[in-house]
Amino acid sequence: MSQAVDEIKIGGIGASRKRVEDNRFIRGKGNYTDDIVLPGMLHMEILRSPLAHARIKSIDTSKAWDIPGVHLVLTGEMMATRNLAWMPTLSYDTQAVLATDKVRFQGQEVACVIADDPYIAKDACEAIIVDYEPLPVIVNPKQAVADGAPVIRDDKENQPDNVIYDWEVGDREGTDRAFAAADLVSKLELHYPRSHPSPIECCGSIADFNRATSKLTVYMTTQAPHIIRAAVAMVAELPEHMIRIISPDIGGGFGNKVPVYPGYVCSILASILLERPVKWIEDKSGNLISTGFARDIYLKGEVALRRDGKILAVRMHTDADHGAFFSDAQPSKFKIGLMHSAFAAYDIPVAHLTARGTYSNKAPGGVAYRCSFRVTEAMFFQERMIQAAADDLGMDQGEFRRMNFVADDAFPHRTPFGFLTDSGQYAKCLDVGLKAIDYENFRREQAEARGRGRLLGLGISTMTEPLGAGNSREYDILGIKMFDSAELKVHMTGKAIVRTGARTQGQGHETTWAQIVAHELGIPAEDVVVEEGDTDTAPFGMGTYASRSTPVAGAAVAMVSRKIRAKARKLAAHLLEVSEEDIEWELGRFYVRSAPDRGVTIQECAIAAYANMPDGMEPGLDATAYYDPPNLTWPFAVYIVTVEVDPETGVWDVLKMVAVDDCGVRINPMIVEGQIMGGLTEAYAMSNMQFITFDADGNCVGANYMDYLLPTAWETPGFELHSEVVTPCPHHPIGAKGIGECAAVGGPAAFVNAVIDALSGTGVRNIDMPLLPDRVWEAITYRRDVSGAPPVRSDD
Ligand code: CDP
Repeated sequence: MSQAVDEIKIGGIGASRKRVEDNRFIRGKGNYTDDIVLPGMLHMEILRSPLAHARIKSIDTSKAWDIPGVHLVLTGEMMATRNLAWMPTLSYDTQAVLATDKVRFQGQEVACVIADDPYIAKDACEAIIVDYEPLPVIVNPKQAVADGAPVIRDDKENQPDNVIYDWEVGDREGTDRAFAAADLVSKLELHYPRSHPSPIECCGSIADFNRATSKLTVYMTTQAPHIIRAAVAMVAELPEHMIRIISPDIGGGFGNKVPVYPGYVCSILASILLERPVKWIEDKSGNLISTGFARDIYLKGEVALRRDGKILAVRMHTDADHGAFFSDAQPSKFKIGLMHSAFAAYDIPVAHLTARGTYSNKAPGGVAYRCSFRVTEAMFFQERMIQAAADDLGMDQGEFRRMNFVADDAFPHRTPFGFLTDSGQYAKCLDVGLKAIDYENFRREQAEARGRGRLLGLGISTMTEPLGAGNSREYDILGIKMFDSAELKVHMTGKAIVRTGARTQGQGHETTWAQIVAHELGIPAEDVVVEEGDTDTAPFGMGTYASRSTPVAGAAVAMVSRKIRAKARKLAAHLLEVSEEDIEWELGRFYVRSAPDRGVTIQECAIAAYANMPDGMEPGLDATAYYDPPNLTWPFAVYIVTVEVDPETGVWDVLKMVAVDDCGVRINPMIVEGQIMGGLTEAYAMSNMQFITFDADGNCVGANYMDYLLPTAWETPGFELHSEVVTPCPHHPIGAKGIGECAAVGGPAAFVNAVIDALSGTGVRNIDMPLLPDRVWEAITYRRDVSGAPPVRSDD
């Protein structure tokens, strides 16, 4: 008689199962958008504006049309005849598809050529003559609101200036009162620079309109295929059931592949007009200069403190530069994303946040790069502010945090901005981290080294991140509620296929969703295939970003498995000839309570669903579940770094970095560790070496991988990961919290705090990222803060 199966052996939860998708990736057998070749396929290239702000006086495309092999030249004027020169954004703004009146950023799409091959299309783009009349340029929020500033969005009615929104949250009066009663007020002001997700694969699409069937199939690099289908239906006015979006393998997304880009729209229109498949594959410079940037935000704030170290209140203001179009993908209710998750891990009675968003002559920015809608900026400011406040008080960094953390027994905890956090062991994580870095010893070494002219520093950063939007009560994008889905079909031999509305871009869903099914049903993970990314087959979902997959789609996988188990229980009762109430479940097997030896496996139930079901039961073993999470999940992490700064050159090296992540139950510990290492690598890159900015003319400086450096294994420091703190999420079906973004969110402040700590005593309070050697050297030499805010001279 069969027995319950061993969960780890079947690749269930807790198994460090090797990633099944890697089988095809490491053999070069992935199937990316650019790998797809369709019969009769044409190629599209985009002509981009060299200027950041200019009126278009004329566009002459005649020479491009004359080039043999050119099939179509699209301009804004032609798009306008089909009402497609502008498209709606995911933030209720509009964005130019191809410029008609003006160009508003360097790199903006001006025209497209569709030709037999990409080289002909590129040559033809260069044959297009555009007559521009340059206009004054705005590259930061200060310039955007200055008297006499040119109005960038003069295309919009009721837009007399460059302000997109003024938004506030929290308790203004209560915060004022708390500040009036404070013993000490600590202040900080900084700029979180523009950064770029830089997926290895750029964006691209192949649109294939079939006139005979009226069906439009688009293969594309999107993290959210169903949202794109809805957007295409709206923009191109095509019936939704005649649109099929297929998101094949994706070579990294990190938020860059959520928005709708003009290239997608143009390739679709071109395919409809030419009745041939049209492929557009963006090049690296195009990706760096024109697709969704992240951050570029000015943060300032202050904390009201009691002499003993208790934080009484927080006040924050942000000025966000959104570029020429407000096209962030974020819940519509919150104009500055989830910025107000700042200080959620700290027990702070009252807080107030004001946020202003402005247009500038830059590519549309503000996408959530590996974070939940501005959480990275929130946590960065939080931890930089906490360090400054502890220093101002003369308190120990660890002690100051510990005394202000939300206590383990204080959950559920209402944050001063209104979120409800549900669980965590913040002080324990900090203790594990401090022990791992050998805190006391390091402080001693640091003091001794200082005596010998060596600059050592230690930086702590903590973060708690709201992961898993929705719930649908509060979270929507363009009115579409944020929930997710899973469909599970168990075949008669007990093998299964699970489909979700999420879309993996490298996070390993094909491995981990199968592990959840194994955990719930006892079907070995290797018997479960996972499929995502095809809107004709996958159930509706909001896609993968904001680490929402495990909290929402992963929960849906657990819930749909439970539906299957409920039906399998009925089949088991029938097979065992007892009533359902007499049946017990152990992993992979139902048995009779009074006779545990009498049982049937889940596989035996599966065959019965097709071959021996009871009278009146619907055959088959399929189900779909839509999961609307009751709340966000709130993972917590502590990152601690030690560095040595060379006072002669400003170069700094990481001595040690420890990471303590509590993401609740880990489905696949190996994948979780990979996510943390990837996030820390990105955090290190942002803080140390990635430099992309704008000069006063709006030229994008650093839009290449010579300046905007991606760290390789050579540059990346080692990371020591700790997994001993596990606080299951109380409302997630398997107790998991998201993890994908945590390290990228919380990491940067640890590096910056460490360098600033190394400079303690010099009066330097802030150096804006990236902490390039010349900036650090300037801070040391002149004992002053160093700003990295644009405009930055191009020859700097
Ligand atoms: O939405 P995204 O997939 O980017 O992020 P995530 O939900 O945090 O998951 C990233 C990867 O880590 C997925 O393969 C998850 O299944 C896995 N994971 C895990 O094994 N255990 C967790 N508690 C959270 C995520």
